[in-house]
Amino acid sequence: MTASDQPEAPYARLSPLRVETVRPTMVSEEGAERPDPETRNWIRAVRQGFHEAEPTEAKLSFLARRLVAKGSEGTVVHDDSLGDDPDFGSRFPVATFESFTGELNLAARPGASVPCDMITGVTVNPTHRRRGILSTVMREHLRRVAETAPVSSLTVSEGAIYGRFGFAPTSFWESFEITTAGARIRGERTGEIRYVSIDRVREVAPRIVRAFHERTYGSLFQKDYVIGGFTGEDHEGLEGEMGKRRALVHLDENGEIDGCATYRHGGWENVSRPYTLEVFECVGATPLAEREMWRHFVAMDLVDRITHDNRSVYTRTFFENPRSIQVRGRTDFVWWRLLDLPAVFGQLPFVSDGEARLTVEDPLDLVSGTYELRVRDGRGSLSRVEDPAGEQGCVIDVASLTQVLAGRVSVQEMADVELCRGSAEEVRALCGLLRFASPVQCLIGF
Ligand SMILES: CC(C)(COP(=O)(O)OP(=O)(O)OC[C@H]1O[C@@H](n2cnc3c(N)ncnc32)[C@H](O)[C@@H]1OP(=O)(O)O)[C@@H](O)C(=O)NCCC(=O)NCCS
Repeated sequence: MTASDQPEAPYARLSPLRVETVRPTMVSEEGAERPDPETRNWIRAVRQGFHEAEPTEAKLSFLARRLVAKGSEGTVVHDDSLGDDPDFGSRFPVATFESFTGELNLAARPGASVPCDMITGVTVNPTHRRRGILSTVMREHLRRVAETAPVSSLTVSEGAIYGRFGFAPTSFWESFEITTAGARIRGERTGEIRYVSIDRVREVAPRIVRAFHERTYGSLFQKDYVIGGFTGEDHEGLEGEMGKRRALVHLDENGEIDGCATYRHGGWENVSRPYTLEVFECVGATPLAEREMWRHFVAMDLVDRITHDNRSVYTRTFFENPRSIQVRGRTDFVWWRLLDLPAVFGQLPFVSDGEARLTVEDPLDLVSGTYELRVRDGRGSLSRVEDPAGEQGCVIDVASLTQVLAGRVSVQEMADVELCRGSAEEVRALCGLLRFASPVQCLIGF
């Protein structure tokens, strides 16, 4: 092998910057558990990257304990030319990248989860931006994690950053404003509603969220994110508001709790109508439990308007009058990057059987190639075609394919706008197979 044939060392492009892995660590100091210096500087750098306040000692410890609990790994970049100034010296990372592992349900059935890489805390100090730091760290991370997880995921601060790495949005949330006057919920009432303490929700939410996860295509589950959405305790500046939150649960026909929700009333002192209720989470082990909690919310006295960041595909179907819901905003939520296509296609919730060939293009060349898809009795298998002999089937890039798998756009629609190329027959065959009972839904953002 000549020197020019040698594979480039992972971070050679960033030289002389130094790239390190950080495992979050707590140490005992004066009788208290505190993050070690590397963990502290990592957290401080992330907060600087997102223009958040310098963390207090208590906040640093809270965030560090969460990193430990999630089993997070940090990739941090140092610039040794910055010297040893305590504020901006080389001990302070110029870039950060966090990853940990969750479960992704690819089939809307229990036991069909695959490990999912979850990325967050991506920052590059403005003094070091646009030198390829993110690109280099991301490429190396995806190459490495592809060996253990078939999908990587993230949520984005800006929509233009991650498409270049083959990520695409798979779930969305909509900011709902519901007018309660005249809002009627369809179907027959089932079960009962009971008011409970936030502590009770803390106790039951893991089971309800797990049940939601097991019935939901595309749901991500990570145990450390189960409670935060209900109580708000993870969110910046909401700690003091905790007491204002209230909680209710839904009991099924057997008196078992099968749904829970938290909400807050905007108050009416010095507030003129409309009186507003904010629903934070409304999660059912079954969609019918979700429906019954909405039936209860819209019928509440002293509530003219309900606001809610909706992630459930069912909520709209509950309302008799579609105009009871006004959408005030819509944005992408979780994005996926496919890393192992046979592992993904082996789980998908296919609704029809058949065969189709497809060729996937990948800017990072992690999953590029020609594949044969066969679906029998709703179970898929995808195998690589080593020598396609000119028969490529539909040609589609990995991000467009991801959007199709998310169930919000069809292969035919992608072909109509030339994001999928193939004969009419090839497009029809693949389009017929890549249709699912429900689009991807996801509760947690990270
Ligand atoms: C987003 C961020 C991490 C990018 O880091 P970076 O090291 O400057 O990125 P790179 O130099 O590797 O840029 C790679 C490419 O992405 C583009 N890019 C990077 N950030 C972008 C952005 N916010 N919007 C649009 N394009 C962006 C670059 O222009 C570059 O394009 P090119 O290859 O065509 O030249 C950095 O700007 C940052 O820390 N922003 C604030 C925090 C943040 O938004 N983090 C993301 C959280 S999801």
